[in-house]
Amino acid sequence: MQLKNDLTGRVALVTAAAGPGIGRATAGLLAEHGATVVLTDRAGDRVAEAVRDLARTDVHGLTLDVTDEQRVAEVFEQVLRDHGRIDILVNNAGTSLPAPIWEISTAAWRKVVDVCLTGAFFTMRAVLPHMIARGSGSIVNIASTEAWTSRTPGNTAYHAAKAGLLALTRSTAVQVGPHQVRVNCVAPGLTPNPLLSRVIPEQDLREMRDEIPLGRPSTPEDIADSVLFLAGDASRSITGETIAVCGGSAMRP
Ligand SMILES: NC(=O)c1ccc[n+]([C@@H]2O[C@H](COP(=O)([O-])OP(=O)(O)OC[C@H]3O[C@@H](n4cnc5c(N)ncnc54)[C@H](O)[C@@H]3O)[C@@H](O)[C@H]2O)c1
Repeated sequence: MQLKNDLTGRVALVTAAAGPGIGRATAGLLAEHGATVVLTDRAGDRVAEAVRDLARTDVHGLTLDVTDEQRVAEVFEQVLRDHGRIDILVNNAGTSLPAPIWEISTAAWRKVVDVCLTGAFFTMRAVLPHMIARGSGSIVNIASTEAWTSRTPGNTAYHAAKAGLLALTRSTAVQVGPHQVRVNCVAPGLTPNPLLSRVIPEQDLREMRDEIPLGRPSTPEDIADSVLFLAGDASRSITGETIAVCGGSAMRP
């Protein structure tokens, strides 16, 4: 019997997967469940290190800055040449440059929107013709509960871009559903990693932790488990949906 989260024979591409957080945990979990994983990140040196780290599984690395339209097209062409198919795309890239809205430079605004929102548009545009032609595929976009709570101070561009990512997901899901391609979001709440305290002040992090009903922040592995669910056949009737993985800190009706 094949388990519904067995990804044997499937090819997954994960963006921003060489850091210390959700991307790498997701790449590792998909690979552990049998997928051939193409781990990408804009930081080429860290890609090599992350691939070494996951070497006991079928993981391959490529340098990819998701804001580089030309490079996105090249990478998807290369993966299709090398592996013949792409079944799963995880858009994990995100960044934030917090500042009071009246002080945000145009360059900072554009950078955050480019990484969090336009990058996902570039990758989905690149992979969808292939998924539509094959009549299958699952795309998981990593949004944030901040898309609707707008909690962290000064993260306006991030809030707007992540809310845009929810809408991009739904809009795409409607269009590609008839081709049996699914598009969903995972919206993490606070998910600490060594880089996070550089962008969110310690006091804010403490307050966010205190407000989590389950009493602890999520781990990258908690988020990866939901991505695995949405990537595989267990979620076969779910599309255009957002799963919040936040210990109950951002409940919605
Ligand atoms: N950590 C959290 O608390 C949290 C909460 C909600 C949502 N998220 C979202 O989860 C995702 C993962 O965040 P994380 O904190 O776990 O870090 P992560 O380790 O998964 O990602 C960091 C990596 O992103 C890469 N990256 C940044 N810009 C890129 C670009 N333009 N192209 C390709 N790679 C790029 C970096 O090189 C780094 O290796 C992001 O989309 C983030 O917005 C995180």
